[in-house]
Amino acid sequence: MSGEEPSLEKLLVYEPSVSPEPLYSVLRQCSKGFKLFSTIYAAVKLKLFDHLEPPKSAEELSEVLGIDPYLVWCICEILADAGLVAGENGVYKATEVSKSYLRTNSPLFQGNVLDNLMKSFEVWSKLAEALKNPVIVDVEEFFKDHIHVMASEALCGELQKTVRVVVELPEFWEAKTLLDLGGGHGLYAIAFTKLNPKLRAYVFDLPQVVEHTKRYVEAFGADRVEVLAGDFFTDDIGSGYDIVFFSYNPGGRNPTLVPKIHASLNPGGLFINKHVFYRRGEGSKNPMLDIEWNLLKFAGEKQGKKIYSFKGDLLLEEYLELLSRYFEVVKVVDESAFAGCSLAKLGDTLDAKIIVAKKR
Ligand SMILES: C[S@@+](CC[C@H](N)C(=O)[O-])C[C@H]1O[C@@H](n2cnc3c(N)ncnc32)[C@H](O)[C@@H]1O
Repeated sequence: MSGEEPSLEKLLVYEPSVSPEPLYSVLRQCSKGFKLFSTIYAAVKLKLFDHLEPPKSAEELSEVLGIDPYLVWCICEILADAGLVAGENGVYKATEVSKSYLRTNSPLFQGNVLDNLMKSFEVWSKLAEALKNPVIVDVEEFFKDHIHVMASEALCGELQKTVRVVVELPEFWEAKTLLDLGGGHGLYAIAFTKLNPKLRAYVFDLPQVVEHTKRYVEAFGADRVEVLAGDFFTDDIGSGYDIVFFSYNPGGRNPTLVPKIHASLNPGGLFINKHVFYRRGEGSKNPMLDIEWNLLKFAGEKQGKKIYSFKGDLLLEEYLELLSRYFEVVKVVDESAFAGCSLAKLGDTLDAKIIVAKKR
């Protein structure tokens, strides 16, 4: 049939000359992916992984969940295929990964990460509209919820690896005061004080956010961590610090904060900056994440088009050059040393760097 204009009648008899498979294989992947996600999400909401202690048959589980046993069996089979439950002789049990990350009583429970993914799917499902009218959010309102997602993700590996990079610095063990600037959940500050018994740490963040930081300070019994409420662009961030730790913040590449951070440090103090930077001439790091970045607009902040970028940000080369006027740049650590697992969403480490700079 190729080369001929197919008449409507011929379409009923001859298969299309162009195979739909390239399109259908992409759509199949999407279809399976979303349905699998929704199954996992429903299983978490139904506390299915909690109920699998002790292991249960589909019939037993169906009684606890109040759902038809055949549908429960289907869910268990889908979850088994994904490695989240294991079935033997008709009895299902949670696997190690779901015990760690999908049980509500686990300290590594990822429920809020799943909620965050679901919320972003809702925005993406209205992409045609959202591209024209992005969601405007207040920074403080957004982060008071989002720091909990960040905490859950960080606990999956990035937190511990980042802490290891910092504790390898001899200055860390001499430090008595640390500022976790824009520290959000405060888990970095908390971890640093747990490791260095002489260290007192301050988590500086917006007023509504630090109220949520306090929950982590309390949960971890971090009695040498305090919170400071303020806006790091406009307010005093304090002084006399031995270390300023600055991770994934709107001001991470902003030149105005460099002299302010420098002034807040003691002589010989360390500025540890962990951010995603762009190099001169670099384009998009990931077009899909650039779209996600543009679907969300922080009120009052001048966002750039590329993920994590803001107007006025310096390029990596420019930032290092600026730093060198105030600090000795001790090292630049690549993301391979500290990245966690990516989720193809806002929050991914991408090619972030940890820059360690010592006050001259
Ligand atoms: C992406 S989170 C990073 C949290 C934590 N540092 C980490 O790496 O996981 C950004 C944090 O910066 C805070 N933040 C944003 N703008 C700020 C400002 N102007 N002053 C103080 N904190 C701010 C947010 O409230 C949020 O807690």
